[in-house]
Amino acid sequence: MDRTPSLTGSEDCTDSSSNCSVPDTPANWSPNVVGEHYSIPMDEIALQPVMRADLPLGGSREGRISHSVRRQIRNVCCIGAGYVGGPTAAMIALHNPHIRVTVVDRDERRVRAWNSRHLPIHEPGLSDVVRAARDGLRPGVDGTGRADASNDESSTRAPNLFFSTACAETIAEADVVMISVNTPTKRRGQGAGRATDMTAFEGATRDVATHSRRGCIIVEKSTVPCKTGQLINNITQQHRPELDFPVLSNPEFLSEGTAIKDLMRPDRVIIGCETTPSGTAAAEALADLYASWVPRERIVTNNIWSAELCKLTANAMLAQRISSINSISAICERTGADVGEIAKSIGLDRRIGPQFLKAGLGFGGSCFRKDIASLTYLAESLGLPEVAAYWEQVLTMNNYQRDRFALNVVAKLNNSLRGKKITILGYAFKKDTGDARESPALDVVRILLEEGPKSIAIFDPLCSEADIRYELSALPAADAQDIVKVCADPYEACEDSSAVLVLTDWDMFKLQARPAPVKAQPVDSPMIARFSPSTPAELLHLPQRSKQTPPTTDRGAVVVGSLPEEILARLQPQAECGTGCEECLLVSKSMGSKQRQEAMDWSRVATLVRQPKMLFDGRNVLDAAGMDALGFRLETLGRASTI
Ligand code: NAI
Repeated sequence: MDRTPSLTGSEDCTDSSSNCSVPDTPANWSPNVVGEHYSIPMDEIALQPVMRADLPLGGSREGRISHSVRRQIRNVCCIGAGYVGGPTAAMIALHNPHIRVTVVDRDERRVRAWNSRHLPIHEPGLSDVVRAARDGLRPGVDGTGRADASNDESSTRAPNLFFSTACAETIAEADVVMISVNTPTKRRGQGAGRATDMTAFEGATRDVATHSRRGCIIVEKSTVPCKTGQLINNITQQHRPELDFPVLSNPEFLSEGTAIKDLMRPDRVIIGCETTPSGTAAAEALADLYASWVPRERIVTNNIWSAELCKLTANAMLAQRISSINSISAICERTGADVGEIAKSIGLDRRIGPQFLKAGLGFGGSCFRKDIASLTYLAESLGLPEVAAYWEQVLTMNNYQRDRFALNVVAKLNNSLRGKKITILGYAFKKDTGDARESPALDVVRILLEEGPKSIAIFDPLCSEADIRYELSALPAADAQDIVKVCADPYEACEDSSAVLVLTDWDMFKLQARPAPVKAQPVDSPMIARFSPSTPAELLHLPQRSKQTPPTTDRGAVVVGSLPEEILARLQPQAECGTGCEECLLVSKSMGSKQRQEAMDWSRVATLVRQPKMLFDGRNVLDAAGMDALGFRLETLGRASTI
């Protein structure tokens, strides 16, 4: 199905005669439409009365115009269909059914995946949100499967989320462009290893400057160095000196693995703007988009530099807590103190709180390391070497933690891995994501490879073999790809192993009283994702429309992806993949989704591994007493060694 958006937009988004292509009615159903409205001074910026049906006209504030006005947003373009762009755009579309949201990316394959039944990223609940917004919802059906006569128009919605490679055309008709492209660390040249590589961001900004229409709001969604707003202004000035484009900073705080929950109920939405009338009006327009589902008091407006810097600061502070507790774990191992008990004790202090105090292998993923590196570089460039050194230490401690974990494995295996097979359970940097980027597991593999093991078997329930192999290609060992085997079956990975290393906190690795089968409906992604039972009450706000309870697993967790029957019946049927679909082939070849997420049977693992059944828990997820009972010799970070 061709999902390329039509190109009928006018030149100016503030023009009430705009012929912007908006979703066809009926589009009235959204999870939660909030009708809050406000006014802004007429003389400050070209404005027009509110046209949206869900936003009532009327109301005024002293000194402001007599009827409610706002900058009208009908088309949103999001550049970058990645971990941030895709889910964020889907959430905005879901909650703003009258607005057309188009995600563009240069990567054709990624766009194709977003338009297919195999989304390119795995996030619990993402598929439901995308399907509802991308495909629309049909009216409900009655018990016999016929259209339910009691369902009115308001229970349906038209598609308003699109994925496309038509970057220039989509930008040209957008009222708001959100730049969500990758901003990795520079690999070469000035600042290599620390400074942010702004190549993709600069390219996207040039595209916006070239193709956007007058008044288009440019939003920094990517994590960028402080003062990037100035870079955007410089670029737009070079390309379109006659026009003024309001620039906003709207950093994203979602975490992979919980992206949908985070987007659905954000702690805060930060919007940084220039303190000009057009900047303020643009910030208010963006706030309107979020206010469709985020309480107004959680939408915070800052000056643009604060907004840019607060994202780097938030990640640096979170990472700092991890490094802090990990530094204590090293002391615990030498003293007999238990880092778990310490974390619990200090976490009870409300000034400290319990979050991010779990000792383990350290942080990974595409954000923490590069954002701290960026902060360090920023401090240094500003002539603040002490500040740079302070944050640098967070990274140093993180590297130290993973190195000492891997070196301890080698030491406990008598300083020789020759002829030995090592098993790695979990490659992703955290549970519930298939993102293989910047995983601490890669450094562990690197150190193990230096010792010349016979083989290293990796099992991860979500990371694909291709992604893991791509990451391995960065390792110096020429034989890395031959020595490492990526297994689809955890028991195959453990067979004949001299040491099993748990490197991701996947729930399936936790010791269960008995292996609990997951009662799940088949889903399109190879993963069955689970939320806490409370989540579906918010997710899509569907249960309030449903008399049925969503399916649950044996342990009471609700299976996201298996919505109540009545809602499933309202999702549009997904187009079949063509014959030879690589993803379908992969799913059919690999273990079923059920098996991949089943709790590990550790008693079975105990029969497969070599004596003395060495087990290294890099995430402190295993139950020491239970593992001991199964005959494992468990080594844990932050507790004195018993081996
Ligand atoms: P990603 O690498 O998954 O996606 C970026 C996408 O942008 C790619 O698909 C790429 O093809 C596309 N792209 C690059 N230049 C383009 C251009 N000129 N035109 C069209 N498409 C273009 O990156 P991810 O993880 O989504 O991160 C995006 C930004 O969000 C980064 O700055 C990151 O630091 C930040 N962020 C990431 C979070 C995460 O958990 N991944 C969380 C919060 C922020």
